[in-house]
Amino acid sequence: MANWEELERRCLACQRCALADSRTHVVFGAGQKDAEVMFVGEGPGENEDLQGEPFVGRGGQLLDDMLSLIGLYRDKNFYIANIVKCRPPRNRDPLNTEQDACIGYLREQIALVGPKIIVCLGRIAANRLIHDDYKITKEHGQWVEKDGIWYTSIYHPAALLRDPGKKPDTFVDLRAIREKIRQVCPRTY
Ligand code: URA
Repeated sequence: MANWEELERRCLACQRCALADSRTHVVFGAGQKDAEVMFVGEGPGENEDLQGEPFVGRGGQLLDDMLSLIGLYRDKNFYIANIVKCRPPRNRDPLNTEQDACIGYLREQIALVGPKIIVCLGRIAANRLIHDDYKITKEHGQWVEKDGIWYTSIYHPAALLRDPGKKPDTFVDLRAIREKIRQVCPRTY
């Protein structure tokens, strides 16, 4: 298994798909590298591309605010990364070919972190990590255990910004995440 330095070095130099040509920064990931809880989004937006950090725009601020309500802080007790590490043009959904080219980095990050819980942020991440044809509207908040890791999803923060009517459901899901953390993550709180 790769170590963090080697993995990040390879990822920062990546030329596996055309997103490499238009990126400012590769957005590798952020947070605690030994966290029991991981969050996974779809791919960097404009602010993330400029700063090289995941979820630093308006959606990221909303996410950090919501997670602080359940005692989660990226400088303390979770790790956060994306399915694709480079920004798709005009924030379109990452193509399957781009996801295929990039997913290996996330798989290695998951192996290095060794999380007990992975929370998918939105449909694209849930589709890749939980199951094909994932219906976020119907399935958000449901739990699936695979290979010793508990997976769930919440709405993507950008969807909450577009439709604040989805926030109450997300608060229910976040409380359930806090409960699952209490059950399976002895070091998180
Ligand atoms: N949206 C994502 O899915 N990931 C980011 O890092 C930023 C916005």
